[in-house]
Amino acid sequence: MARHPLQPTRFVVTNSVVPSPEVIHARSQHPITDRKQDFDGILLLLSDSYTLLSDVNTWSFSRFAGWTVYSAPKDLSRLLHLWRTEAGKLVGFAIIDGGRDTWVVTHPAYRDIERDIFTWVEQDWPAEGNLRVTYAEFADSHRRAVLTAQGYREGRESEYMHKYDLSKVSRTYALEPGFTIRDVATDGDHLGRAALTHEVFHPGEPLPENYRPRRHLVPSYDATLDLAAFSPEGKPVAFATGWLNPENGSAETEPVGTRADYRQRGLAKALVTEAFKRLADRGATYAHIASAPKPAVSNFLCDGLGPVSKLRFVRWIETM
Ligand SMILES: CC(C)(COP(=O)(O)OP(=O)(O)OC[C@H]1O[C@@H](n2cnc3c(N)ncnc32)[C@H](O)[C@@H]1OP(=O)(O)O)[C@@H](O)C(=O)NCCC(=O)NCCS
Repeated sequence: MARHPLQPTRFVVTNSVVPSPEVIHARSQHPITDRKQDFDGILLLLSDSYTLLSDVNTWSFSRFAGWTVYSAPKDLSRLLHLWRTEAGKLVGFAIIDGGRDTWVVTHPAYRDIERDIFTWVEQDWPAEGNLRVTYAEFADSHRRAVLTAQGYREGRESEYMHKYDLSKVSRTYALEPGFTIRDVATDGDHLGRAALTHEVFHPGEPLPENYRPRRHLVPSYDATLDLAAFSPEGKPVAFATGWLNPENGSAETEPVGTRADYRQRGLAKALVTEAFKRLADRGATYAHIASAPKPAVSNFLCDGLGPVSKLRFVRWIETM
């Protein structure tokens, strides 16, 4: 497969693409008031940001969509907070994910509110223990300056976000004899896919009793993009799910995994290639895959697929 060199990525927006802020100084902040409307507003903010930046802005749309279905508890008052312009436009949010980790996402035209958001987080979301953790893209000098001024220090890498040009990636792959790829639209086996995903990410732990699959509850879920590879004996052994953002045609592939006893046989690469092909056929131009930082083995897969760029997210830590 042709390799595409990594381009240096700068999280910088030019004035030609970013609209002028509606209102610069007047703004309001509040917790979630209308779950459906506010979630839709966040998805729109992420989509608009993607269109302006041509890249993922801190949180990908499928990560947020998945969070609403898998992780969002009933009471969100201390987990998700929104910032709006005076005219009501949603331009930023702060979200706590995974216990004490705070993520701050702002619209590219309203980045001046980041300082206010971090100050608000500091005052209104007390840190657990003596640590506060947040995240920034490595080359994002604006976020870097805000966090340094707030007393955070840079920590280790947390995640890479790879970007693929779907007009350039390979559309072909080879499977070992007897292996097949099938989507959930064909067999409807949501529970089987959930068990396989659980086995890969929690090896040796059985799927909890009465587990109810939920992936298909995400509004942008498309069963024809929910792929698994089957062994010659008909056992599901690897998976990759594609997501298409209907707002702007951006795409993601998440999660991806192969059972430990079937790794390094080209299954994940074949599944992602098939997912990319289907996403491109539905009009997507770019797709993204998140991975743990090096030396995680997922980087062999992600690099081998030929990304055109890679964002590197870094943890920032404040010790109280
Ligand atoms: C990452 C993972 C999905 C790879 O699955 P896989 O089926 O073994 O991957 P493939 O056989 O298709 O290999 C893809 C490429 O990565 C390389 N590769 C995979 N594992 C490797 C390893 N342990 N060491 C060196 N290279 C490796 C392959 O040689 C291949 O390289 P190529 O592009 O030059 O052909 C699998 O290890 C896994 O499920 N890990 C745990 C879950 C996880 O991390 N998921 C996140 C994925 S983003």
